[in-house]
Amino acid sequence: MDGKVPDPALGAESKLRSTHNNYLTLPVIFVMISNHYPSTYGHPHAWLVLLGMFAIGAFTRVFFNMKNSGKFMGWMIPVAILAYIGLAVATAPKALPAPDTNGEAVTWSQVEPIIQTHCVSCHSATPTDDIFKVAPNGVVYDTPEDVQRKASLIKTRAVDTPSMPFGNKTGMTDAERALLGAWIDEGAVIP
Ligand code: HEC
Repeated sequence: MDGKVPDPALGAESKLRSTHNNYLTLPVIFVMISNHYPSTYGHPHAWLVLLGMFAIGAFTRVFFNMKNSGKFMGWMIPVAILAYIGLAVATAPKALPAPDTNGEAVTWSQVEPIIQTHCVSCHSATPTDDIFKVAPNGVVYDTPEDVQRKASLIKTRAVDTPSMPFGNKTGMTDAERALLGAWIDEGAVIP
């Protein structure tokens, strides 16, 4: 309005940003809902899983961009689906070793020390962790009943996936996960 010529570089830059946004739409939607998928962020190489999701998501987006500009590249759909399946298979949680129980049922007295060593530093009414000063999500495992009530969620986060303990801060082993899992499968019996 005041006689100046607009800087074309600004327009070019916003076009570039908009292109980035466009390709990242699908991966970012996945990231937003990813807390429901502990097998992705709980994977030992979670950053690679995320990279794979970004690559396939951007690829899928190219299909929509082409379609919107009138080019239907049908072959891209099965390629994207196969890539997702391949990623899921490659990153599926690995089976734990069978727990060494001599064929006997796992007792609470075997499970309690595992919970004490690996969980209550954070999940307690009085946490001792250096970072988490209140129980995360209000989840506490201070009594056998607390643990029994949450057994199936504990199985998801500490047995089926290694997404707990947080960052495996307490160094929980596969053998301990297997024992905990066996106790839950046998009905999470407490005294
Ligand atoms: C170093 C701290 C820390 C330790 C140790 C820890 N957790 Fe957690 N836990 C967290 C944090 C932080 C969250 C919330 C974020 C999340 O869900 O990933 C959480 C969330 C959870 C949840 C989800 C609760 C809900 O209702 O959403 C479960 C289940 C869980 N932990 C189980 C365990 C078990 C079982 C252990 C021990 C084997 C354990 N955690 C050890 C920090 C910890």
